[in-house]
Amino acid sequence: MSRRYLIAGNWKMNGSLSANAVLLSELSLKQDQYSGIDMLVCPPAPYLESVGRQLGGGILLGAQNLSDQTKAGAYTGEVLGEMLAELGCRYVIVGHSERRALYGEDDATVARKFIAAQASGLIPILCVGETLEERESDATEAVLGRQLGAVVAAAGVGAFAKAVIAYEPVWAIGTGRTATAEQAQAAHAFLRGQLAAQDAKIANSTQLLYGGSVKADNAASLLSCDDVDGGLIGGASLKAADFLAICAAAQALSKN
Ligand code: PGA
Repeated sequence: MSRRYLIAGNWKMNGSLSANAVLLSELSLKQDQYSGIDMLVCPPAPYLESVGRQLGGGILLGAQNLSDQTKAGAYTGEVLGEMLAELGCRYVIVGHSERRALYGEDDATVARKFIAAQASGLIPILCVGETLEERESDATEAVLGRQLGAVVAAAGVGAFAKAVIAYEPVWAIGTGRTATAEQAQAAHAFLRGQLAAQDAKIANSTQLLYGGSVKADNAASLLSCDDVDGGLIGGASLKAADFLAICAAAQALSKN
């Protein structure tokens, strides 16, 4: 089965109305050249509505976080999945390592957010990844198995028919240090194998993204790995030329 490439920009806590408008106009000018892949931008929540209006359809919209609650109510500061869907979001990132490390999200919280996303019709992009210490102590597979396993146990493997997984080694995020293609492929094959042990068909169709210092010059080698179906791009998604170069690498490898 040939899986479509998904190139997702995680803007993190960056942007402004004026900077977003410049970035989006540059992306929009070129989007027709990348019809064989899916392009996604995930701006900060306050910008979702204006970004959605400027995208006009060719580029998909996603959020970076959502509440684990599934009904509106007295949850100050939280954002309900349905609100994101109403603004045109198709995707939402859950369990990013920055949320796990800086905001105390544990596997159980991440699993609730994954379920809340799907309950609102959003496609969760579930982030998993090991720290440097965990890699150096040969715990990478144990960590990935635990992080993915918590969500599979809570949501069921069938939920991965409408979900994306992003493998993001924590030591590669924002550091300029990227996993080698071999390291990325090994982790992706492990993750796909975890799903395949329960449902081979779903494992074969689930898109697995690599994230962590993906740039124009390493994108082709990472994206050409058998089990790498796209990228979750942080820093390089803030500059149109860099993001478009990564999209071009995916388009060149695409069979679509
Ligand atoms: P980076 O971030 O590309 O800046 O390393 C990736 C991410 O955290 O999603």
